[in-house]
Order: sequence, then structure tokens, then C-alpha cells
Amino acid sequence: MEPLKPASLTLRKTPPISTREFAELRRFIYDLVGIDIPERRKYLLENRLGPRILQLGLRNYSEYLMMLHHGPDKNTELKYFFTKITTNETSFFRDTKQLDVFETHVLKNVLQECEAAGNKSLHIWSAGCSSGEEPYTLGIMLHEILRMSIIGWKIQITANDLSPDMIAKAQAGLYGEYALRTTPKDVVDRYFIKETQGYKIHPKVQKLVSLGLINLNDKLAVKRVPKSHIIFCRNVIIYFDDAVKQKLISNFYDNLLPGGYLVLGHSETIHKLSRVFQPLIKPGGIVYRKST
Ligand SMILES: C[S@@+](CC[C@H](N)C(=O)[O-])C[C@H]1O[C@@H](n2cnc3c(N)ncnc32)[C@H](O)[C@@H]1O
Repeated sequence: MEPLKPASLTLRKTPPISTREFAELRRFIYDLVGIDIPERRKYLLENRLGPRILQLGLRNYSEYLMMLHHGPDKNTELKYFFTKITTNETSFFRDTKQLDVFETHVLKNVLQECEAAGNKSLHIWSAGCSSGEEPYTLGIMLHEILRMSIIGWKIQITANDLSPDMIAKAQAGLYGEYALRTTPKDVVDRYFIKETQGYKIHPKVQKLVSLGLINLNDKLAVKRVPKSHIIFCRNVIIYFDDAVKQKLISNFYDNLLPGGYLVLGHSETIHKLSRVFQPLIKPGGIVYRKST
């Protein structure tokens, strides 16, 4: 008789997701975090959640969904789930053309306006910050513009994401060369400390950034974010449908101070969704302004 294989050595294939399971999981994700996973990307859920289902000893996606709804560890599992269902592509100085427009037409103006009003305090919100490259880029830009005078400013960059793994990575502040591929070498030399495992963001930049988890589809959580002069939400709303985008844009509007700016990804537009912002159109990018 053939000896029994220990369970852990039995190779199980990840289960295929049925049409009904996909529809249920898709609805669950949409209702909770606003991300809309189209039918053609069903494979994403299979690739990303299939191994987890095996690891947990579950048979299929229905059992996994049951666990997310009612399991005793559902909150812990939800954190893992958020990490798995999000796409976190990012880098330092991503889309330099757009950042040039932002620096010239937004950031410098906002700093001047604050200074002229005798209020050297600035709040920027990086909503959907992934592993921190975006908010740290903003911190570096502020250091480059203000130089030594930064010590006279009260600056906070609030940086939030849905994925606990990404926030943990941002907190560690350690990056590989790939994340820095569009960052000028002199900037790397000035704002990173070379360590054996990579490049560590300098504490003078890190201390400007306040990291935390958020679900942008949760209106109450969004309401708790301090009022902002500038909101960065780049390459996030592409995962939402028009209804969720519209809600979020309206929440951003409420969060912004009068005359505040909203910066979206270069391929993202709110043209058809909201008329309350004034678009500032420049070669290299569009930014949206709330009226003063
Ligand atoms: C493609 S990354 C963009 C990162 C950065 N803003 C950039 O442009 O480089 C999108 C990020 O949005 C986050 N995200 C997606 N849905 C979210 C939600 N409902 N609440 C908060 N963050 C979300 C994802 O976790 C992911 O890290």
C-alpha cells in the first residue's frame, strides 16, 4: 500500500472562481472600498486570492467570502485582503512633467499665499499614497524650495492608503533603485542615506509625513482628515466607477480649504463628474482649484 502523504505535501491547485463567486466577491469589494473589478480582470482575483484560500485550508471563494463576512479573525483577514486586491505601482518623482506644473503653478503659489497671510502652515494630503514615494517626493520638493527657511514652517503631509503592507513599507522608508529610477542623482544624494539593503529616506523628509490607513470609500474616515491646501490623489480613481469617483471628488472638495488644489493622475479627469472645480490647464498637466 502506498504511504499517505502528509497534508502539507499534497499539491493542491488553486480553485477556479465560479461566475457566481466572482459576482459576489466583486460586489463585496465594490461596496466596501469602491474598487470596481471588471469581468475581464477576474484572473486577478484568482491569482491573488487563490493561494490564500489554499493556505487557509478553504475549498473555494464562497468559503473565503464567508470568512471575510463572519469569521472570528475577519478584521485581520480584511487587512490581508486589502493588500492583495490593490495595485500599488508607484515611484519617486513619478510623472516629472506634471510635478513641474505642480511646483511652478501650485506649490510655490500656495507657499507665497500662506506667507503673505502671515500663516506659515501648510497641509498636503496624499490620498492613496501606496508605499510612500509620492508623499516623500512632496517633502523633498518642499525642502528644495524652502531650503533653510523650512524651519520656520509648520508642514504636515498626511499620507494614507488602504493597504497595511504599503503603509508599513512607507514607515520603513527603505527603497530600492527601481523606486528611484526617475529621481535625479543629486536629489538621491541629498535626501537618502545609502544602506546595505537600499536607500533610506532622510529623517528631515520623513518627519514631514504622517502615515496612516484609510478607506477612501468611507466618508466618515475621510471627514477626519485635517483640512488641506492641496490634495494629491494620483492613479487611484482609475479603479473606481463614476458613482464612487463623484462621491470622493465631493468629499475632497469639502476637505479643501478655499482656493485649495486637487491633483489627479495625468490620465484622470473629473471633467464629466464635477463642475465645482476650476481646471487649470497647462502643458504637462491639469490641476483643479476650489474657488476662493
Ligand atoms: C497605483 S497606486 C498610486 C500611488 C501613488 N498615488 C502614485 O500615483 O504613484 C494606487 C493606490 O491607491 C490605493 N487605494 C485603492 N483604493 C483605495 C481606497 N478605497 N482607499 C484608500 N486607498 C486606496 C491602493 O492601495 C494603491 O496603493
